[in-house]
Amino acid sequence: MRYTSSTTAVPDVPNVPRHVAIIMDGNGRWATKRFLPRVAGHVKGVEAVRTVVEACALRGVEYLTVFAFSSENWRRPEEEVSLLMRLFVTALEREVAKMHANNIRLKVVGDLTRFDQKLQDMIAAAERKTANNTRLTVTVCANYGGRWDIMQAIGKMVAAHPGATDFSEEQLAPHLAMAYAPEPDLFIRTGGEERISNFLLWQLAYTELYFTDTYWPDFTAEKLDEAIASYQHRERRFGRTGEQLKK
Ligand code: IPE
Ligand code: IPE
Ligand code: MG
Repeated sequence: MRYTSSTTAVPDVPNVPRHVAIIMDGNGRWATKRFLPRVAGHVKGVEAVRTVVEACALRGVEYLTVFAFSSENWRRPEEEVSLLMRLFVTALEREVAKMHANNIRLKVVGDLTRFDQKLQDMIAAAERKTANNTRLTVTVCANYGGRWDIMQAIGKMVAAHPGATDFSEEQLAPHLAMAYAPEPDLFIRTGGEERISNFLLWQLAYTELYFTDTYWPDFTAEKLDEAIASYQHRERRFGRTGEQLKK
């Protein structure tokens, strides 16, 4: 299936966002506020992912993309990084069968070569198992960075067109890590910061942005509904005037 690029044509505006992309932020502060170690926030954060996956499936969202580990998160203390990796492994072990039973497809995007071979194998197996599921595609961005994505796509595009010096957006787009998904309709960032932190730089061109102070472990289906309600009140103009939309 091919999707409309927001910059080369005006895309459809779905009432329920077809693609929701989330920066799950605030796990550490959630834990610190409770005098718990930061990792306790990450553990609780996995539960919130489960809740939001279910809620998205029930609401008819087709793509849910969550930022789990950025290419800059390696800068954290080694102990926190290794705990996050272990948590990723346990989450895969526990959740993949359930996702499969619920017709959910799992994708993991990012530079996975920096992960343990065991984790890479688990990811490949989970993707293979769920590849033909159609209800909802959940993408976990792991060791992902928007700039990494654009650079790796450029590399592949150049290799696919030997000798060419002039390129179009249409030639780049199929090489982006999430070429299988439409551009996000709704972006949510929890945890109070209002920045993109090198998430989907290319794909967020015309995405509606929603920021909430709620820490990720406290994010619920109701909070997702608040974000969707906010989205539904936006006028998505894609460069046109409001008057043009009324015609
Ligand atoms: C988001 O929560 C999870 C990851 C980046 C892995 P944080 O760990 O960034 O939590 P805060 O922002 O420090 O509260
Ligand atoms: C963004 O959160 C990355 C993830 C949620 C995985 P960060 O906590 O790393 O972002 P900054 O450092 O506050 O911008
Ligand atoms: Mg953070």
